Amino acid sequence: MIEEGLIDAVVRQLTSGKEAMVYVVRGGGETRCAKVYKEATQRSFRQAVDYSENRKVKNTRQARAMAKGTRFGRQAQEAAWQSAEVDALYRLAAAGVRVPRPHNFHDGVLLMELVADAEGNAAPRLNDVLFTPEQAVEHHATLLVEVVRMLCAGVVHGDLSEFNILIGANGPVIIDLPQAVDAAGNNHAAAMLERDVANLRHFFGRFAPELLATDYGREIWALYQKGLLTPESVLTGQFRQVLKPVDLGQVLAVIDDAKDEEAARRLRMAEAR
Ligand SMILES: Nc1ncnc2c1ncn2[C@@H]1O[C@H](COP(=O)(O)OP(=O)(O)OP(=O)(O)O)[C@@H](O)[C@H]1O
Ligand SMILES: [Mg+2]
Repeated sequence: MIEEGLIDAVVRQLTSGKEAMVYVVRGGGETRCAKVYKEATQRSFRQAVDYSENRKVKNTRQARAMAKGTRFGRQAQEAAWQSAEVDALYRLAAAGVRVPRPHNFHDGVLLMELVADAEGNAAPRLNDVLFTPEQAVEHHATLLVEVVRMLCAGVVHGDLSEFNILIGANGPVIIDLPQAVDAAGNNHAAAMLERDVANLRHFFGRFAPELLATDYGREIWALYQKGLLTPESVLTGQFRQVLKPVDLGQVLAVIDDAKDEEAARRLRMAEAR
């Protein structure tokens, strides 16, 4: 990146996590952040099938190779993983979500805004900061709106926790999005959204226990599913499932089908013996 003129200098290494090494760099007259992805083999659970479901690849040859796990397939998967983070950052920044502004993605390195504290140093993670009950309630509310904004942009973070949120000079900023999933296209999106919201509840509930009784996740998803969710939606933190009257005839038909199937199976087994 120095050769290409994308950065001027590497200032220092910030962290070496499970999946990437992160550096503070100088470039474009500013201090920026460079995330260097590690080899796929060193990576963990997040490439599990849940996350990559319905991830779009350019052609069917790529898709087949990915399914088979050939070397070409692994490379394609690797590229899809890395570009998923870049795509999500652009999409979310455009939707007004507080994420680091992306500058460039080149050869497995993501160059982005350095989220900084008031002194200009790399911002701490949520997990490294203590909060008063009032601050906890305020940050929790702010972050729920961010989650809603993400969902309105069609994205579920999928690994949102106190380790992937930084406290910048102007409040919380969400990072670390390679596993972000498409809200409409992934069957696990609802469960992931609920888990993301539950992580926020548990974390801030340590400082403000009244938050532990809330259930924003299911409320948010229910509104989203009905097409009623907007960043301005007023949430209650309560969720009551509206149960539709049961169609008894249909239930009995399903039971009958299952009985028939089982009888046929037993017959086949008896014949085989
Ligand atoms: N834009 C940024 N500005 C400031 N610090 C950042 C930025 N991006 C990442 N970091 C720092 O680098 C750490 C690792 O980044 P990130 O979570 O994106 O990678 P990761 O591979 O998931 O690492 P880990 O396994 O540690 O979570 C973050 O916890 C944060 O401290
Ligand atoms: Mg992380």
